[in-house]
Amino acid sequence: MDTTLIIEAAYFLAALLFIYGLKRMASPVTARSGIIVAGWGMVIAVAVAFLYGLDVNEKAQPHVWVNLVLVIIALAIGTGWAWISGKKVAMTDMPQMVALYNGMGGGAAAAIAAIELFSGNAQSHGVVVTILAVLGGLIGAVALSGSLIAWAKLDGRINKTVRLPGQQAINAVLFFLALATGAAITTAGVSGEVSITLVAVFFILSLVLGVMLTNPIGGADMPVVISLYNAFTGLAVAFEGFVLQNPAMIIAGTVVGSAGTLLTLMMAKAMNRPVSNVIFSQFGETGDGDDSEIEGSMKAAEASDAAIAMYYANKVIIVPGYGLAVAQAQHKLYEFVKLLQKQGVDVRFAIHPVAGRMPGHMNVLLAEAGVPYDIIFDLEDINEDFAQADVAIVLGANDVVNPAARTKKSSPIYGMPILNVDMAQTAYVVKRGQGKGYSGVENELFYADNTSMVYGDAQKVMAQMIEAVKSLG
Ligand code: TAP
Repeated sequence: MDTTLIIEAAYFLAALLFIYGLKRMASPVTARSGIIVAGWGMVIAVAVAFLYGLDVNEKAQPHVWVNLVLVIIALAIGTGWAWISGKKVAMTDMPQMVALYNGMGGGAAAAIAAIELFSGNAQSHGVVVTILAVLGGLIGAVALSGSLIAWAKLDGRINKTVRLPGQQAINAVLFFLALATGAAITTAGVSGEVSITLVAVFFILSLVLGVMLTNPIGGADMPVVISLYNAFTGLAVAFEGFVLQNPAMIIAGTVVGSAGTLLTLMMAKAMNRPVSNVIFSQFGETGDGDDSEIEGSMKAAEASDAAIAMYYANKVIIVPGYGLAVAQAQHKLYEFVKLLQKQGVDVRFAIHPVAGRMPGHMNVLLAEAGVPYDIIFDLEDINEDFAQADVAIVLGANDVVNPAARTKKSSPIYGMPILNVDMAQTAYVVKRGQGKGYSGVENELFYADNTSMVYGDAQKVMAQMIEAVKSLG
């Protein structure tokens, strides 16, 4: 049987599964099966790589069996580690995990580049492939070290945001030095020997660049940074796919690269901030919030008052935010929602695209509690309806409901689309105290005449609300 034909047919199938899986990930209803479909694509792509080895073995290369054993050991370690850590990870730690795995992808692409450049394989395919190997190596190494810093920041292992004087000039110098070394590797390869020192210097410069690019960015912007590095990883893998002449890598890399780029742009749009502002500014960490006086005062209310108001309402809209995830209050919240529904109240959830700390954070959280998808609405599908809501309740959200984004030109969040909670007849906001949101901006909603603050941890407040409603019925 012709192994090349099997390999190519299997790669084609794997590519189809990647794309179909990605399409299914577009909706929360089909996302879980999308992951499984794409996972099978990856299993096929990995399994078929062994046929390469067997193919080479027919040409009697003695080291091939040793390599195969090494590959199996690496696969066993990688799969075992990913399986265990994937099972154990808490929902709130998911962004860290994505950062770590994304970094591994970039690192793998960079490692391929290093081997192919040093062994001269890349150069044997001509200058264009050598340039792709160099660029893939640079981008992959930046994605590796950058993602590791992002992981450490999200995991609270690095709490400081270090911004050196002349940071951008330093980054530019590092970038050009890495490019110059890459160019030297390319020309050295064309004319003969490539020194290991040159390859090592190139990768060290690229890794340092990743650290220097990520260090100055604030922790709360890490989801955007991770998504950007995800796009980098995809691009690096696609470039190295050309070097190895492996169509599955080219297709998977391109899909990841474009999906990562789109996600980055969508997140930036949902915050009304250009990607350059995320990368080059210290948003939310420099106290750049507009603290001009807000009229009115915050009025405190008891959890039971809010619960009773919702119990006797016709239409209630719930806005979840980062604080709901911190408090892990999603199960209690859904228990409360079911009590309201039993009473005939029309309850819906309004999801802001950047609520929480990762794309789809709130959808995943609500899905975990079993909230049905048909009562969960995206911003553009529900924003008009706040005006008809008797009660809107905000649970641990802040920036995504701040009317200053609509009205206050001087505010750093001006222009960010927000959920129109202020337009509901009555609004309740559940949060622990008077802490500001991630952007560091005061929230005008909290001072509005129709808003009451219910202070406390979201989980405890939900438990009190359940008690209050149960005591009525
Ligand atoms: P935030 O603006 O961060 O506000 C969360 C609020 O939750 C805080 O004001 C905090 O107030 C409260 N809170 C924290 N722990 C709580 C607990 N245990 N119980 C009750 N409340 C609690 O959150 P948001 O409205 O979801 O907005 C997300 C922000 O992250 C936006 O500014 C967005 O631009 C940014 N961001 C998001 C993403 C993605 S992809 N989601 C990416 C990058 C940046 P207290 O301290 O007073 O309790």
